[in-house]
Amino acid sequence: MLIFGLRIDFIAMPLDQHGRTINYLRVSLTDACNLRCVYCMPEQMAFRPGTALLRDDELLMLIGFFAELGFEKIRFTGGEPTLRRNLVELVRATAATPGIKSVGLTTNGILLDYLARPLRDAGLDRVNVSLDTLDEARFRQITRWGNLRDVLAGIEAAERAGLRVKINAVPVRGYNNNGDVADLARLTLDRKWQVRFIEMMPLGGIAQFQQTNVITETEIRQHIENTLGPLVPENDGQLDGEARLYRLPKAKGTVGFISSVSHPFCAGCNRMRLMADGILRLCLLRENEVDLRKPVRAGWTADRLKKLIRESVHQKPWGHGLAENKIATNRAMSEIGG
Ligand code: 5AD
Ligand code: SF4
Repeated sequence: MLIFGLRIDFIAMPLDQHGRTINYLRVSLTDACNLRCVYCMPEQMAFRPGTALLRDDELLMLIGFFAELGFEKIRFTGGEPTLRRNLVELVRATAATPGIKSVGLTTNGILLDYLARPLRDAGLDRVNVSLDTLDEARFRQITRWGNLRDVLAGIEAAERAGLRVKINAVPVRGYNNNGDVADLARLTLDRKWQVRFIEMMPLGGIAQFQQTNVITETEIRQHIENTLGPLVPENDGQLDGEARLYRLPKAKGTVGFISSVSHPFCAGCNRMRLMADGILRLCLLRENEVDLRKPVRAGWTADRLKKLIRESVHQKPWGHGLAENKIATNRAMSEIGG
């Protein structure tokens, strides 16, 4: 925006009631998935019918409004976003939306071998791939039927296509062994990847399992350091997004920890989540939500919808309640998209 010749883009930046700048929108494109990871959903998970989801035109209209309000970064998530028909076209339209500087994708990587190149050509910058073990049998147990080789092929394809790659691992007691964590961290010795270890978070459906079987950052670090040597803090220990980064001796890539349970990073939170059914989730781990689909379908004007979005951003709660054992149970992780 230009006023008296001065750029005043910052005025459009949405601040929440706690003074945080909120400029990152995660967009879940479907709650369905072709895997059933034990830390994410029960094996017999029921998915929403397609009619309950935002259509492409509705979604792109909303993304346009968020961009006008100052959101700059979009990440498509799921469920599994590669199952959404027209994903490539959605990426293309989003990347071309004025104000959007970066479009990312969080995926299980199963279909990435086919999709990496077209997605890159459509304007995708970055991809985060979930990968919790390099052992085929344990991979199958964790995902309940996935094939590790598909994911590894997907990661290679993403690299070849020029996408920036990060790996997300959620270690689970009873499913991962100590060697898994070290094997994943070892990947950073030769690859410029960021391998991030995420503490399993409790949400609807399987919260009890998630709480009982969480492996904390302290434990994960010990396994890595015992096998591979000291983890040296990067960036003076500053957070990189939600991850605290470290480097192993002589490593090309970095090891990150996303430890919402033991080290909450709510003070620096800059994100909102638009779920596939058009409902805006104000905090991953709280039940507060605002329905955008009903107003869109009721034909609200652009100005009225943008006002609703701005007010919702303002209402974003401060921090989750895990420390007081307050667990959000109204949604499964797979509906929110991480
Ligand atoms: N806790 C933390 N992270 C999770 N993910 C899925 N379920 C959980 C959970 N219970 C992660 C996946 C994926 C991202 C979308 O969320 O590893 O990378
Ligand atoms: Fe699917 Fe990702 Fe959940 Fe695994 S973590 S079941 S791949 S949505």
